[in-house]
Amino acid sequence: MQKIKISGSLTSLRFLLFKYRKVLVVYDRKLENLAGQIGQDNQSLPIIAEEQYKTMETVMAVCRWLLSQKADKETLLLAVGGGVTTDIAGFAASIYKRGIRYANVPTTLLAMVDASIGGKTGVNLDSYKNMLGTVCQPEFTFIYPKALETLPQREMRNGAAEMLKTFIIKNRHNNYADALSVLKAPVDFKALEPLIEAAAKVKREIVCRDEFEKGPRRVLNLGHTYAHAIEWWQHTNPTENPALLSHGEAVAIGIVKAASLSADKGYCDESLPQQLKRDFESVGLPTEFPCPEEELAPALLQDKKITGKKINFVFIKRIGKVTVKKHEIRF
Ligand SMILES: NC(=O)c1ccc[n+]([C@@H]2O[C@H](COP(=O)([O-])OP(=O)(O)OC[C@H]3O[C@@H](n4cnc5c(N)ncnc54)[C@H](O)[C@@H]3O)[C@@H](O)[C@H]2O)c1
Ligand SMILES: [Zn+2]
Repeated sequence: MQKIKISGSLTSLRFLLFKYRKVLVVYDRKLENLAGQIGQDNQSLPIIAEEQYKTMETVMAVCRWLLSQKADKETLLLAVGGGVTTDIAGFAASIYKRGIRYANVPTTLLAMVDASIGGKTGVNLDSYKNMLGTVCQPEFTFIYPKALETLPQREMRNGAAEMLKTFIIKNRHNNYADALSVLKAPVDFKALEPLIEAAAKVKREIVCRDEFEKGPRRVLNLGHTYAHAIEWWQHTNPTENPALLSHGEAVAIGIVKAASLSADKGYCDESLPQQLKRDFESVGLPTEFPCPEEELAPALLQDKKITGKKINFVFIKRIGKVTVKKHEIRF
């Protein structure tokens, strides 16, 4: 499984890169500066790291560039950017010449704790998210927390939700409470560093047990059943909801809903949904559905994880403990 290295200095990254005969860099074009500091003598390709360009066409452009650079089995493709960039570059690396090595330098909080860990790569097919892809582990993920200094507040919140999700699944050394206090604006980046490392390592541990999502990896879907339904609703009702919720914001709402279903079933204390609601709101995350719940029904009933009307749903027992059970979607 991939190594995770976190450091405040790019010198440690250069050490990691020494062992590869050739390094090629694919980066989010907004990160010219950082890519320049990392890439130095290496050839690099900027890409537009937006969800609508997370397509096979961009993967093909990356593959053509790899070919023009004579990339081979000795080459390392280094992705510098958020989840869109690491998903695209990882996918291109996993199929070019039946697979070359790649590594990630995630630059968003979401990519540091989630997207750059675990080896899922891929792109969208028309309106279907992440429909094409591979599971292919990167050589390493190098986390450089200083990259977050330029990240917009909203993107920080997006990653904050995934970080809190991770600590609701596994809460070592009371990471959850620490994350809540650190994530309140203005964010203390120094204090955030060990929490990023902790969250990334929790994800790696879970993936190590279940690379291809046959069982234990499912816990990472906490909050995502309702989050995906909210995201679907937003796209089918664009005029009703002009202020689109981000993925992380939708996950926050989904986690509070998962807590309330858990309380209804007696899996957790009745006070948990209210506690999570207060916690998430304290770091600026929303907790209310943007629409009447019934309007989410079509998406919930089409969820990939559904068999019949029953879905593999992640319930919360307490902070640090979740359980996956079949759950019937009823409206
Ligand atoms: N492979 C996986 O396991 C996995 C897991 C979760 C999410 N994802 C994917 O990740 C994507 C979302 O990732 P994301 O939230 O990192 O999105 P992103 O890559 O789109 O980055 C978000 C925005 O921040 C900008 N940005 C990135 N780093 C910056 C920095 N340091 N300073 C200033 N701006 C910066 C980007 O240009 C973009 O506008 C989705 O496509 C999702 O499907 C993949
Ligand atoms: Zn997510």
